Amino acid sequence: MDSYLIRHELPHDAPEISEVHIQAFAQDRESRLVEALREDGNINPELSLVAIHKNRTIAHILFCPVTIVSATGEIPALSLATLGVHQDYQCMGIGAALVEAGLDQCRRLGHGIVIVVGHPGYYPRFGFTMAKESGILPPFPCRDNVFMALPLKPGALDGSGGMVRYPEAFDRVGAHTS
Ligand SMILES: CC(C)(COP(=O)(O)OP(=O)(O)OC[C@H]1O[C@@H](n2cnc3c(N)ncnc32)[C@H](O)[C@@H]1OP(=O)(O)O)[C@@H](O)C(=O)NCCC(=O)NCCS
Repeated sequence: MDSYLIRHELPHDAPEISEVHIQAFAQDRESRLVEALREDGNINPELSLVAIHKNRTIAHILFCPVTIVSATGEIPALSLATLGVHQDYQCMGIGAALVEAGLDQCRRLGHGIVIVVGHPGYYPRFGFTMAKESGILPPFPCRDNVFMALPLKPGALDGSGGMVRYPEAFDRVGAHTS
C-alpha cells in the first residue's frame, strides 16, 4: 500500500464520502446518515476526516455531537457516527489510523467522551468499553457489547450515566434500526 493522507473533509469531498460508505457497507444507510447530518448542519469538518490515496477518497470517519441525559443534567459527548473503508482498502490499517487520528482530534478540541455503536471485536482495541458499565444507555434496543464508550480525559466517564440523545438525523434514516 502506497502512502495515503488523512485530512479534514473539504466541501468538495461530500460526493466521494457518500460513495465510500455505499461501497464499504454495500448499502446506503450510512451515506444517508452523513448526508442528513450535513443537511442539518451537524457536521463539523474538523471532526470529519478522510483518507486520500492517489487523489481518491478511500475512507471516512465522522464524529457528531450527542448529549447524555440524566435526571441531574446533561453531559455533552460525541458519537463516532460512521466509519467506512472502501472494500479495496480494508484490513490494511486505514480504519485504525482514522480512528486514532479522529480520537486525537476530538481530544485536541477538548471533548471528553466518545460513544460508538459498533463491532465488539473492533472498537475495544482503541479503549472503548461497554457503555453500560458507566451507566450510559442507548435510546434504542441493542446488545450491551455493541454500545461502547471511551473517555478522552481521565475520569470523564465518572458520574456520566444517562441516556444518549442523538441528533434527529439518526432517526430520520433509521440509523439504529436493525
Ligand atoms: C470495519 C472497518 C472500518 C475496519 O477498517 P479496516 O481499515 O478495514 O481495518 P483495520 O486494518 O483498521 O483493522 C483490521 C481489523 O478489523 C477487522 N474487521 C474488518 N472488518 C470488520 C468488520 N466489518 N467488523 C469487525 N471487524 C472488522 C479485521 O478482522 C481486523 O481484525 P484483526 O486486527 O483482529 O485481525 C472496515 O473494514 C469497513 O469499513 N468495513 C465495512 C463497513 C463496516 O462493517 N463497518 C462497521 C464497523 S463496526
